[in-house]
Amino acid sequence: MTLVLGIGLRAGTSYRELRDLVDRALTGVVGVVGTVATVEGREDEPGLQRLVASLGAQLLVASAVDLAGQQVPSPSEQVGELAGTASVAEAAVVLAGAELVVPKVKSAGATVAVGLLGPAAPGYSCADRDVVHRVIAERRDVRRGFLDKPVDDELLTRVLEAAHRAPSVGLSQPWDFLLIKDVATRRKIHDLAAAQRDAFAASLPADRRSAFDGLKIEAILDTPLNIAVTCDPARGGRHVLGRHADPRTVWFSAAIAVQNLWLAARAEGLGVGWVSFFDPAEVGAVLGLPAHVELLGYLCVGHVSEFAAAPELVRSGWAARRPLAWAVHQEQWGYRGLPGSSVSTTAALQDAAASSGRVGGGSQVLRLVVLDGGDVAEHLGAADVLVVQVGAEQPAADFGVLWRPARTADEAVELGVEVARDLVLQGVGELLVSSIGDSLVAERLTEGIRWGGLACGAVVKRVDEPAAVTDSPA
Ligand SMILES: Cc1cc2nc3c(=O)[nH]c(=O)nc-3n(C[C@H](O)[C@H](O)[C@H](O)COP(=O)(O)O)c2cc1C
Repeated sequence: MTLVLGIGLRAGTSYRELRDLVDRALTGVVGVVGTVATVEGREDEPGLQRLVASLGAQLLVASAVDLAGQQVPSPSEQVGELAGTASVAEAAVVLAGAELVVPKVKSAGATVAVGLLGPAAPGYSCADRDVVHRVIAERRDVRRGFLDKPVDDELLTRVLEAAHRAPSVGLSQPWDFLLIKDVATRRKIHDLAAAQRDAFAASLPADRRSAFDGLKIEAILDTPLNIAVTCDPARGGRHVLGRHADPRTVWFSAAIAVQNLWLAARAEGLGVGWVSFFDPAEVGAVLGLPAHVELLGYLCVGHVSEFAAAPELVRSGWAARRPLAWAVHQEQWGYRGLPGSSVSTTAALQDAAASSGRVGGGSQVLRLVVLDGGDVAEHLGAADVLVVQVGAEQPAADFGVLWRPARTADEAVELGVEVARDLVLQGVGELLVSSIGDSLVAERLTEGIRWGGLACGAVVKRVDEPAAVTDSPA
């Protein structure tokens, strides 16, 4: 059994006093002390340091604020006034994730409480957890505000080490990191991105194109360092564990390495911007990649003046974040809701429609054509048309077609709701929907689009009826 000792002590408390108190507290308790936890400000006390060393334990230091947030059996007002927390010893045990088995015992200068760590491995302390969540929330894709300051080699190595610790299928570690500082090389890469930018702009409907004109999509020449992250899909030969059934897993692994890099860079105050406006083979040719190695991601890296609080695409109104509750399904697809909440079925979504808020903010007008079978190609001419194909046969890959093969009429509604909501997140403010033919599933999906669009504050119009029905949010 692993034990946690929570210790509160006055400055200058001797090792002897602490040791005697600990022995008293541990009388009759079976286990090995793995952690000693105390309050910030006492970690350097010589008596405590010696105790921790003699026990061979790790020292966990918690802030008074974190300790004050713990529920304990014996809080003390006096300690509260002095230390900013009504308990140190017991609160430190609880904060370390242990179950309190010996409430605090006291000597003249110290208090000791004992906790037992359960069979589940403990998590980090509150403060450490906060840092992890903070770095995840505050990581940004950065394209502006880079400083003219080189990236220190040691810092860069730390960040690359974090990337290199990523999980990988069969421990295949399929990534490599190509560091690029040379301006001539970066110019060539920049030209490739510029050409792709033009091609993308040309593919957009007029209103979306003008919004795109204001967006910066890369910082290749603004950063002192670019990193090409590559993937060798066959690394490790024939029997890489876990890859045989799903070869995509090597790509997942390399992408996770990028995320590790991104988070570690954020923690170091280093901005990273991922650029994907490339044909990977063209970048590979500029960089002289061997034919068996492919580009996974191209990163622009450098010190920045600030990290924005929200993604640039959100701040510019180009796209919006998807609520977590839309992304969590319970037991079966379509039963959405956060853990512990009642799940939201299609009926609930319909009920919610009237009361939901606007999630997007975009003004793009999109024409949606809902089809059950038939040829999608004849509808794809204009850039502002999206075809939703509900037929069972998968159409050829084309970003102009969403394949939503609903198996039942109810599922069609649910899929329609999702289609509309996700379009609103991508800047659509008005949906002009036509359902072609008399398919029930297509009709129900169209109804779902109406519900989903209205729920998110979009304007939804049916345009296939002689007298067009217009619905606007109340
Ligand atoms: C695989 C991938 C490719 C991306 N490609 C680009 C890109 O070419 N240009 C760009 O400006 N941002 C790119 N991004 C950044 C996303 O736009 C950004 O992650 C998203 O808007 C959320 O913002 P955040 O990363 O600041 O939270 C890419 C991100 C990923 C994960």
